[in-house]
Amino acid sequence: MAALPSLAAAQSANTPSRLAGAKYMGDFAAPKLDKVKVAIIGVGARGPGHIVQAAACEGTEVVGICDLYEDLCNNARNAVLKQDPERHKNVKLYFGDEHAYQKMLAETKPDAVWIATPWEWHAPMAIDAMLSGAHAFVEVPLGTSIEELWKIIDTSEKTQRHCMMMENVNYGREELMFLNMCRQGVFGEILHGEAAYIHELRGQMHQVDAGRGTGFWRTYHWAKENGNLYPTHGLGPVAQYMNLGRGEDNFRRLVSFSSPAKNHELYAKEKTKPDSKLRQIDYSKGGDMNTSVIKTVLGRTLMVQWDESSPRPYSRHNLIQGTRGTGAGFPNRLALDYCWKNATPELRKLLNLPEDKPNQSSNYHEWIEGGGFNAFYEYFDHPLYKRMADVAKKHGGHGGMDAIMNFRMIECLRKGEPLDQNVYEGAFWAAVTPLSRKSVAEDGMPQDFPDFTRGQWKTTKPLAVVQ
Ligand SMILES: NC(=O)c1ccc[n+]([C@@H]2O[C@H](COP(=O)([O-])OP(=O)(O)OC[C@H]3O[C@@H](n4cnc5c(N)ncnc54)[C@H](O)[C@@H]3O)[C@@H](O)[C@H]2O)c1
Repeated sequence: MAALPSLAAAQSANTPSRLAGAKYMGDFAAPKLDKVKVAIIGVGARGPGHIVQAAACEGTEVVGICDLYEDLCNNARNAVLKQDPERHKNVKLYFGDEHAYQKMLAETKPDAVWIATPWEWHAPMAIDAMLSGAHAFVEVPLGTSIEELWKIIDTSEKTQRHCMMMENVNYGREELMFLNMCRQGVFGEILHGEAAYIHELRGQMHQVDAGRGTGFWRTYHWAKENGNLYPTHGLGPVAQYMNLGRGEDNFRRLVSFSSPAKNHELYAKEKTKPDSKLRQIDYSKGGDMNTSVIKTVLGRTLMVQWDESSPRPYSRHNLIQGTRGTGAGFPNRLALDYCWKNATPELRKLLNLPEDKPNQSSNYHEWIEGGGFNAFYEYFDHPLYKRMADVAKKHGGHGGMDAIMNFRMIECLRKGEPLDQNVYEGAFWAAVTPLSRKSVAEDGMPQDFPDFTRGQWKTTKPLAVVQ
């Protein structure tokens, strides 16, 4: 039997050459900006929070706001002016057609552009923003196809502009704490992770009849596509715990399966009037619960689930497991092995941890949760969270994770430091959607991740514990 080609050989055969003059962006830091001129495209449900937080950051000036709708632009401007009417007094509004954002880029020449539009607009807008000279901060997912993700990378490398997919969940308190614990070796050698976006969102479907809003476009993705349509909230933090794409390990391949699609049709039948457009949509091509398994270059495993329609509570799983313990979310839990070496005497006492004796078994039947889990904040709360806890409290957004992310992005631009998420990480995390769609369509056949770094992940620094 002929030998199978190695992963590296298969990947390099499918890797487009780097564009002339383009440079790797793995540890890229842009020149410092004393003042950051910012603009936004898309101020529906998500965008206003971003632009208000950007407006609240010291050293910014909001120069442009764009949406299809004038009323949404006006609302966003009013919210921005409340932050600082003097600093943001020249903000200009652009609306009325799908390409008005290009006029905004040309006229206002922002340093950084937030993009919070429907998914199919992310890549073209990010590319146009970078070509105009701006850094692009893109809502999840970074792009919808492998081709789009390569175009984003090529443009970022060629223009030397950041393009960060804004995975806000990486700035959640628990996620930051688990990252800190991973870096301190509390869980030992990491072998497995679990991530998810399980969020019952059927109520958004009514926006199809309303003609505007998230569900107006998202419902059609649910109906037409079968795979993991929204992987990055659960996956982003776990990928950083495992240093995927950064020095230690990387995404290798994925298999994916979906359950039948029943929930949206049932909902449309039971919750809408007979003349609703929702009743005319064929939902059968989707899949309600998608489960993918990713194997990494080191042979570690990662399970990623997606379900936006089943009657069950929200979860991102947020599970990280190693040779010395496991951290998990929803609810927050820990399990630590008896020989956990890093336990301080106080924690040992609190958790009733036996001394480090071989052959002595630990309690493998119960999690450390509730007050026991909370005790760990004192020891492992991430320094970035501690430094920005007030910002998180004041500006909020998903419990403060949005505010920490936006403030941190501006801080990195003003200090000329690398961002916490590079363009390749955004591409790897978002690639789960097209790869899972293909795997599902091929009855679970494995799909190789492209190496978006062209081999340079091996020398890219792991994300440090940012102080
Ligand atoms: N990270 C998170 O926690 C989070 C939460 C919610 C949404 N999102 C993401 O944010 C994005 C936006 O979601 P949303 O819920 O705000 O949707 P939305 O439909 O409420 O808002 C999108 C806005 O983009 C505008 N738009 C569409 N095409 C445009 C164009 N060509 N030019 C200018 N404006 C255009 C629409 O008019 C709309 O106001 C999505 O990518 C979604 O996945 C992320």
